[in-house]
Amino acid sequence: MSDESRTDAAELSAEATLRPASLGEYIGQVEAKRSLTTLLQAARERGEAADHLLLHGPPGLGKTTLAAIVAKELGVEIRFTSGPAIEHGGQMAAILTDLTPRQVLFIDEIHRLGRAVEEVLYPAMEDRSIDIVIGNRGSAQSLRLDIAPFTLIGATTRVGMLSSPLRDRFGAVQRLDFYDDADLAAIVRRSAGILGIEIAGDAAALIAACSRGTPRVANRLLRRVRDEVQVAGSSNITVEAAAQALQGLQIDEVGLDATDRKLLTVMIEKFNGGPVGVAAMAALLGESTDALEDVFEPYLLRIGFIDRTPQGRVVTEAARAHLGKDSASLWGKR
Ligand code: ADE
Repeated sequence: MSDESRTDAAELSAEATLRPASLGEYIGQVEAKRSLTTLLQAARERGEAADHLLLHGPPGLGKTTLAAIVAKELGVEIRFTSGPAIEHGGQMAAILTDLTPRQVLFIDEIHRLGRAVEEVLYPAMEDRSIDIVIGNRGSAQSLRLDIAPFTLIGATTRVGMLSSPLRDRFGAVQRLDFYDDADLAAIVRRSAGILGIEIAGDAAALIAACSRGTPRVANRLLRRVRDEVQVAGSSNITVEAAAQALQGLQIDEVGLDATDRKLLTVMIEKFNGGPVGVAAMAALLGESTDALEDVFEPYLLRIGFIDRTPQGRVVTEAARAHLGKDSASLWGKR
């Protein structure tokens, strides 16, 4: 998938136009929508800030989108930041004291907050206050400052890396899971409508099947297929055109790209199928272990192409059988 799950600035702005703006428009994640509906209704009825919410799951599944929807449905502003962007406690304190009543503060990659920064958050989440230390050594004094009631929405791909004091302070914890093909096909059709593209139902289903359970990938593939079709002089996406475009992008029928196939092939050829440690797999791809674990691995695990063992990852029979097919036979049906 190499670049299929990456996000750069252009990607983010293209993605933004396709984002649903309300829970009603949001396709899939039924369980998350149900619990958010309750959370929002309860907050509205009490006229209070909504409970703090932790969203976790693989990248590209809609954590940021849901956070923006929560703010919109509460009729409040959302402020975006991320774990790595907040370098010290003072910066966190400045963000918190600047919040207006009931505002949503979104912290992406919240598992990457430093310990000292986290500690500023604890009393803020619990008692709507922060402790600041003034003066130095001998004459240092701790001052408690009240802040506005707010809702923290934390997003993470690694819920296991959150410290328990931080995790315990979220009133609601919601996991987002990969989307099924029917929901992804509905997302592709919706996005095509917004972009003014005509797409056949079977073409939308094909793009969905190649999208690794991930709306961000589905929308990116849709735009790339549209480019190919447009350059070929056509204005609507048929299933044949979609298959040809996906094949041109070296994406196979289960959504693997050349990088995924290289990873699996090298694991088989050089490591006899495993077990291979995460660090070694990351090195094979020239990626960080974080990228391997957050981006490449979850989908391969989900479709049963690799297994996790205490000794490392192993390639499964299903992956071997898949790689054994040649690409003509993969797309040959069309
Ligand atoms: N675009 C991206 N994710 C979506 C979703 N879950 N529903 C509708 N459109 C989307």
